[in-house]
Amino acid sequence: MAYETLIVEIEDYVALIRLNRPDALNALNSALLAELGEAVAAADANDKVRCIVITGSDKAFAAGADIKEMSEKSFVDAFTDDLFGTNTEDFLRCRKPIIAAVAGYALGGGCELAMMCDFIIAADTAKFGQPEINLGVVAGIGGTQRLTRFVGKSKSMDMHLTGRFMDAAEAERSGLVSRVVPANKLISEAMATARKITEKSALTAMAVKEAVNRSYETTLREGVLFERRLFHALFATEDQKEGMSAFLEKRQPQFRDR
Ligand code: HXC
Repeated sequence: MAYETLIVEIEDYVALIRLNRPDALNALNSALLAELGEAVAAADANDKVRCIVITGSDKAFAAGADIKEMSEKSFVDAFTDDLFGTNTEDFLRCRKPIIAAVAGYALGGGCELAMMCDFIIAADTAKFGQPEINLGVVAGIGGTQRLTRFVGKSKSMDMHLTGRFMDAAEAERSGLVSRVVPANKLISEAMATARKITEKSALTAMAVKEAVNRSYETTLREGVLFERRLFHALFATEDQKEGMSAFLEKRQPQFRDR
């Protein structure tokens, strides 16, 4: 499928979705967000995709929501259209693992989009920030909530109140990203990581995603119970039998996603 604001390639069961509005540093306008929602839903439904990688350009993952597009909106416009609401809810419905591969600027909605993915691999050029305060607004797709959970209140307040940028080393130190790689290796590392995930049972990977995400939605006790029940449920799968037999027989498992 051809998109105006994205380039999508599928290789080795990985969908690589590249945000592609170079003139605006991949600013998230309504066209891009709608296409991203479609591309992620299509990848989620495609048997040839077992993991998704979202990336931008060398200069910008995404420099935020498109300021030109939203600058004249009224409260009534924003509220009535549920600005950014539907798109992001659609994005979060994806059950396959999504990796954000971030080089350059990931600001405002760009940082928030990266945080909505399942984990972030950063190039050493990455710069994260929530500079919405400079525009007279606050984050709109989860920045105040997700960044706080990732890096803690003090650093999150610092980022949101000053609008300063965090470099890749600070992002790794503070738990925002899972790892930092040289910029020229970003895509190869992200794709290699995604390929590693494609070798697992897709069923089990979905369960992992659900369980880890549940930790943000519930109390510790309820989350642990949810995890335990999922763990119990997976004993009903062929992949559990295969995974454990393969270990005992000292061979590689052949998962069948059932
Ligand atoms: C629209 C943008 C944009 C944005 C950059 N551009 N960011 N257009 N919306 N968010 C455009 C510029 O207008 C310019 O277009 C071109 O991209 C290159 O940008 P420059 O500013 O010339 O580049 P540079 O000097 O290298 O500075 C890079 C930058 C700066 C530091 C990233 O562009 C910047 O501060 N951008 C805004 C970042 C921001 O405030 N993001 C938060 C947005 S609010 P022209 O046509 O002039 O060449 C937000 C709310 C989230 O995200 C709500 C939920 C989604």
